[in-house]
Amino acid sequence: ISIFVLTSSAEKLSIDGQRVVDQLTKLATFSDHQNPAVTRILFTPNDMMARSYVKELMTSAGLTIREDAMGNIFGRFEGSDATLGSVLTGSHCDAIPLAGMYDGTLGVIGAIEALAALKKAGYKPRRALEVMMFTSEEPTRFALSCVGSRAMSGALTSEYLSSKLDENGTSFLEAANAVGYGSSTYHQLLQDALVPKGKIDYFVELHIEQGPELEKESKDIGVVTAIAAPAALKVEFHGDGGHAGAQLMPLRNDAGLAGAELALAVERHTLATGSVDSVGTTGVFEIKPGAVNSVPREARLGIDIRDIDGVRRDKTVESVRASAKEIAERRNVRHTVTLVNQDPPAICNSDIQTAVAEAAKELGLSTKSMVSRAYHDSLFMARIAPTGMIFIPCKNGYSHRPDEFSSVKDIQQGVHVLALTMAALSGG
Ligand code: GLV
Ligand code: MN
Ligand code: MN
Ligand code: MN
Repeated sequence: ISIFVLTSSAEKLSIDGQRVVDQLTKLATFSDHQNPAVTRILFTPNDMMARSYVKELMTSAGLTIREDAMGNIFGRFEGSDATLGSVLTGSHCDAIPLAGMYDGTLGVIGAIEALAALKKAGYKPRRALEVMMFTSEEPTRFALSCVGSRAMSGALTSEYLSSKLDENGTSFLEAANAVGYGSSTYHQLLQDALVPKGKIDYFVELHIEQGPELEKESKDIGVVTAIAAPAALKVEFHGDGGHAGAQLMPLRNDAGLAGAELALAVERHTLATGSVDSVGTTGVFEIKPGAVNSVPREARLGIDIRDIDGVRRDKTVESVRASAKEIAERRNVRHTVTLVNQDPPAICNSDIQTAVAEAAKELGLSTKSMVSRAYHDSLFMARIAPTGMIFIPCKNGYSHRPDEFSSVKDIQQGVHVLALTMAALSGG
């Protein structure tokens, strides 16, 4: 690809970092917890208010809005050559419980600012430029990540999505229909979101790093080369429970202790690979009935296992499954293992990496090529389009916590790099 240089309009391209931060701050107020904590769960009132706000910003930026049945929101800046696919950018605005205000949101609000700036500078894209907000990147309400991008890329089946219920027993389709998205069947729902091959020529996502490397090395921009392979398992142990005083130790089959052993096995198997790229987390651990004087009858674990090396990640998953079985047998408890997802890693497109690096260079910014250890909608967009990611530093690498922070300067720079990258990829 030829790298577009904003020759005549370069000086006119003005990115307002403070405006982006002000908009992110406003967006953060749509939260189930008090700021600075942000909690925004799919299709809840706060999620719907955030969606309205995003659409309002898209409209102000002069973008044409379209929404699919899954609730993915698109804002389009029309290109001059309708025979070409679009250059798409975007991220998510949902937030796990007690998260911060930059994860995902930067890639939506920042992208709107980038497109607005290009428009204002008089830039005429050849490929259409589109910014989008994905539905539910976080595995919160339906315990499944990247729901919107999985659907767009064809990585989601009706059978699987319909099997997912939230904690109140509500299905995805019911939840979507209740807020004005959705469809009459899962088949139609997914069909509506599916993106035909050739429709998107490039996908780029701007995101905070969520790790400490850029800050530590004083680099301005991360050029992402690959995204680590995520997997999630749900494990349940069931025992007989009993009275904490009267049920004697030799007679117990304590489901809580089986869970505790498995959590330690996750750590052991992850460390056993010998690679720092292997990570394993038991982030959900619930025991029932949850009374101090009752032997746990039930344990429910949510386990997250990731690696840059997909094959090695698969081996860790297998070892954890084997441990669950061994522990259940030895402790005489019943167990079930449900695979929530086990996705391959993604490789970022080299032309996009070049475009990002060139854009940074043009702005006098330093770069670092790096992998993304967190997953993103980019993981799935990479299945249907050449995909790349732009990282900016965040304080101490903090993310998924209320004190997540990126500076106005880093945000301004990231958005500027995104704008130049979009222009380059658009071929205008
Ligand atoms: C996304 O939030 C992730 O867990 O990587
Ligand atoms: Mn996140
Ligand atoms: Mn994110
Ligand atoms: Mn994420």
